[in-house]
Amino acid sequence: MKRTEIVTLLASENERENILAQGWVRTRRDSKDFFFLELNDGSCLKNVQAVVTRDVSNFEELKGVTTGASVSVVGNLIASQGKGQSWEIQAMEVTLIGAADDSFPLQKKRHSMEFLREISHLRPRANLFGAIFRVRSRLSFSIHRFFQEHGFFYVNTPIITSSDCEGAGDMFKVTTLDMHEPPRSEDGFLDFSRDFFAQPTYLTVSGQLEGEAFATSLGKIYTFGPTFRAEDSNTSRHASEFWMVEPEIAFCDLQEDMDWAEDFVKWVVKDILDTCKEDLALFFNFVDKGLEERLSFVVERPFNRVSYTEAVDILLAVDKKWEYPVEWGTNLQSEHERYLTEEHFKSPVTVYDYPKDIKPFYMRINDDGKTVAAMDVLVPGIGEIVGGSQREERLEVLLENMKKHGISEVDYGWYADLRRYGSVPHSGFGLGFERLLMFVTGVANIRDVIPFARTPGSA
Ligand code: 4AD
Ligand code: MG
Repeated sequence: MKRTEIVTLLASENERENILAQGWVRTRRDSKDFFFLELNDGSCLKNVQAVVTRDVSNFEELKGVTTGASVSVVGNLIASQGKGQSWEIQAMEVTLIGAADDSFPLQKKRHSMEFLREISHLRPRANLFGAIFRVRSRLSFSIHRFFQEHGFFYVNTPIITSSDCEGAGDMFKVTTLDMHEPPRSEDGFLDFSRDFFAQPTYLTVSGQLEGEAFATSLGKIYTFGPTFRAEDSNTSRHASEFWMVEPEIAFCDLQEDMDWAEDFVKWVVKDILDTCKEDLALFFNFVDKGLEERLSFVVERPFNRVSYTEAVDILLAVDKKWEYPVEWGTNLQSEHERYLTEEHFKSPVTVYDYPKDIKPFYMRINDDGKTVAAMDVLVPGIGEIVGGSQREERLEVLLENMKKHGISEVDYGWYADLRRYGSVPHSGFGLGFERLLMFVTGVANIRDVIPFARTPGSA
């Protein structure tokens, strides 16, 4: 007999005879001649209750059916007498598949998030984490749906790369050289010509540059894959391994790029609101009381837009002690971003036209000569969720800028070629998948929305 998932059982319209449910015991409550099992199989948040009476032939042998154990229950699905559930299983046959003794850490009580992080292999069996990872799965599907339905092609860009897209130098090296006795050239430097790829290689920080090659051929593309950053930022919003979504659009300027980013965020949030109601209710009730309102707000209301220069003026005008001083020309820090979105605008806000000196080589230089056509989308509770830009499409300007950033015209010759042959204005952005998931679930720490998180000092 094939098992019926609990999500299907609970959605039944009629009583059903002789069904098989399989799952893990969440709790067991004993009476004299029967016991109740709360069974969960991960297919949805809710458990199904099974009533096991002495009519079950091996009743006496079911002592081992305790919290954490896996079981098979064959029985009839009947209308439940109990409150808060419509269906229960009247068990006819119960089989213990795998026992779990009292050392099973997820006994029915509240655990701290820190403790649960230490058992990341078991925490998906807790309600909250089951919900987070079901929503993670749906969000990933929503993202593909959005782009597929809007005419974008999915491109897989390399994970091992020799280019440093963001130029921030926080890349993980990929090598097969012997760390203890690496080969050296005559001048004493490491001899990468003897490395696996015969040159230095890294884990990618972004698929953007390769994405540009495909946008300037297929028109509209997106990447969605793992990216890696060796930045030593131990914050609740930074992971060393995270997933990024990077659309890249040909014949598109910064204004249109911002439209895409905002429409995209609204669309996927709406899709999650429509399809993950049960799991979202858990977040609304137990994780973040303001979440429901915030998500509807994002779907229904326009985002604010403000230039970097205006944003700096707003920040300079408030009477607030910043940890990092505000000054035109410096990066906005998380405290500044959060002030703008949470307190000043009280809505998501897109900041555009950043100083060119704090941005990577590929961004298009504006006519003022001081700023680039860059944009960041900031959301309440998190700050930056999207970073993007119009790319420099003018060959001469790009080459000049590469020189300034110390970027080799030889190594990046292929990238310049995209401007040499049929160059077009094009733009794109990167959205941090886990940041979006934090936003949608209200979960405050990025470590709790990643199945097995990698952060500085911890893998
Ligand atoms: O702003 P970033 O660095 O932009 C890029 O990498 C561009 N190449 C994207 C593009 O234009 N195609 O990163 C994009 C987003 C950020 O807005 C943030 O949401 C997320 O990626 N992000 C991180 N998420 C988790 N942990 C980290 N360490 C992150 N660094 C960036
Ligand atoms: Mg950024």
